[in-house]
Amino acid sequence: MAEEIDGVSYEVKGKVAIITFNIPDKLNALGREQYLQLGKFVERADKEEETVATIIQSTGRFFSAGADFSDKKTIQQDPAVLFSHEHWLASFVARNTWLTNVFNDHSKILVAAANGPVIGLSAALLLLCDLIYVNDLKKFYILTPFANLGLVTEGATAITVARRLGWSKASEALLLAKKISGEDCNQNGLVNKHFTGENKSTEDFNKTVEQLIQDSVESLHEDSIFGIKKLMKIGRDPEINYANSQEVVAGFNKWIEGVPQMRFAQLANKERKHKM
Ligand code: CAA
Repeated sequence: MAEEIDGVSYEVKGKVAIITFNIPDKLNALGREQYLQLGKFVERADKEEETVATIIQSTGRFFSAGADFSDKKTIQQDPAVLFSHEHWLASFVARNTWLTNVFNDHSKILVAAANGPVIGLSAALLLLCDLIYVNDLKKFYILTPFANLGLVTEGATAITVARRLGWSKASEALLLAKKISGEDCNQNGLVNKHFTGENKSTEDFNKTVEQLIQDSVESLHEDSIFGIKKLMKIGRDPEINYANSQEVVAGFNKWIEGVPQMRFAQLANKERKHKM
C-alpha cells in the first residue's frame, strides 16, 4: 500500500521504491513542504534494505511544473518576514542545499519516469537522476526559467544542464530561459528510452517503466551496482557540490532583493508567461 503525504506518495514494490507526485490539478507543482517531503521519501528509499532502484513518477499530464507559485510561504507573508535573511536562509538556502544533496548522493539507481514536461527545481532534480524515461517525446520538454523569475540556477543546473545536454543547449535553456524540446533532449543523449504512442495513459507508462527496471536489475549483483554508482560519482561530485553551494548563496541574494517574489505573484496572476 502506498503512503501519501501532502500529494506525494511512497511505496515499495519488489526491488524498487516508487515516489509519485499526485497533484495533477497543479501539474504537480510542489510547495516548499512538498519538496521537503519528496526529499524525506528519497532518503527513506536510500535506506530500504530490499531495493536496488528508486523511481520518481507522476500523475496527469506533467511530470512537475516546479515550485508552486501559489505557495503562501513565497508570496503572502508579512513583508518583514518575506525579505528577511532568517526566512530565506531557512526556507531556501538550507532546503535547496539539502534536497540537491539528497538526490545527488542517493546510493540506489535513481530513475525518472517523465510522463510529461518538467520545470524549475523539479527539472534540476530530474537532471540528477541516473536513468530518464519519457512517455511521449512530442509532449515532453525541460524548462529552467530562472532568468524569467529573477532567480539564478538551482539544484546544480549550472553544471548538470551542460553536462547532460551540451554547453550550447545549456546557454539557451539557462541564459535565455527557453524550453528544451523532447526531441532535443533525446538527440543530446538525455533520454534512455521513450515510448511514443505505446502507453495510452500515465498509469500505463508508469507500469511500463517499473517493469522495465524490475527486469533490468534482476540477477545483477546489487553490491556491484552500488559500488559502480559510487565510482561514477567521483568525477562529477566536486562540480555538483560546488555549484550547489554557490547557487544557494546567489539565489539567497536574489530573494533578499525581492524580484522573485514579485515575478512569482505575476505568474500566479497570469500576468507573466514563460518563453516556449
Ligand atoms: N504553481 C502552482 N500552480 C501551477 C503551476 C505552478 N508552478 N504551474 C501550473 N499551475 C496550475 C495553474 O495555475 C492552473 O491552475 P488552474 O486550472 O486552477 O488555473 C493549472 O496548473 C494548469 O496550468 P495552465 O492552465 O497554466 O496550463 P498550461 O498548459 O497552459 O501551461 C505551464 C503550463 C507553461 C507550465 C504554466 O502553467 C506555467 O508557466 N507554470 C509556471 C511554471 C513555473 O514557473 N514554475 C516555477 C519554476 S522555478 C522553480 O521551480 C525554482 C524555485 O524553487 C523557485
